[in-house]
Amino acid sequence: MDYQGLLHEVMAEALREPGRGRVADYIPALAVADPTAFGMAIATVDGEVYGAGDWEQPFSIQSVSKLFSLALALAEGGEQLWQGVGREPSGNPYNSLVQLESENGIPRNPFINAGAIVVTDRLLELTGDAGTAVKDFLRAESRNEALDIDESVAVSEALHGHRNAALAHFIASYGNLRNPVESVLSHYYAHCALAASCRDMALAGLFLARHGIRADGSRLLTRSEAKRVNAVLLTCGTYDAAGQFAFRVGLPGKSGVGGGILAVLPGRGAVCVWSPPLDATGNSVRGVAALDALTTATGWSVF
Ligand code: DON
Repeated sequence: MDYQGLLHEVMAEALREPGRGRVADYIPALAVADPTAFGMAIATVDGEVYGAGDWEQPFSIQSVSKLFSLALALAEGGEQLWQGVGREPSGNPYNSLVQLESENGIPRNPFINAGAIVVTDRLLELTGDAGTAVKDFLRAESRNEALDIDESVAVSEALHGHRNAALAHFIASYGNLRNPVESVLSHYYAHCALAASCRDMALAGLFLARHGIRADGSRLLTRSEAKRVNAVLLTCGTYDAAGQFAFRVGLPGKSGVGGGILAVLPGRGAVCVWSPPLDATGNSVRGVAALDALTTATGWSVF
């Protein structure tokens, strides 16, 4: 398979996508992202990595980090995580507060901000440092020791994080946080503010393509847990656009407001695409278009 040629082909097709999108600016440190930046990388289960465009440039991974915090919390703490967070699509924006009250402080799924805050709380309890746990995992899987938290992004998020603070306090009022709100939020911002490239992310996503096996051959998740994480990615990973993403792309995937999307090709590899302008649901316009073109050209799908 000529992966390199394939990446160039699908990126060229995505550039023809009519929708333009807007770079996220509710976190001021993200507003400076170059709207023309565009990169894509594929890592295969046998260890090859291919990339095109700005595939080696670090970007703010934001909510893509929630995939790793979920996997690590499950690996460390097991099934009991699901007592504090559900696994149904929310049908609401990622930062919505509306369902939390009627659902007694149990967020719908681990990928909306409310759910990721609960997952971060459990990972903090299990490891003592949730931000570092995610960073160390990404460094190990991508073999990139330079991969790090962009503190300016973490500070910017904290200064403008009224919604996340509201979500966290509301969850705490139902007794669904085990650590102080300020501490949970600072670890949540830390893992969201990790900066990594498409290359790093594609390599870091491979454990899901390998059904739970890490780069060093050790097992992070059981095969069944890996299947379940992929299932939640498919149904909830792109928020209220998850149906549209499954329709267009047909792969489990996780987006972030930095413009990155990481998708899993079970048994085959992982692919990461990055382009900062977002659609109204917070997903990269060109990122979705490139993944759509990729799966259309190759027939890759979980279906
Ligand atoms: O909490 C936030 O709003 C951001 N740190 C992450 C949001 C995000 O990436 C949603 N994804 N599309």
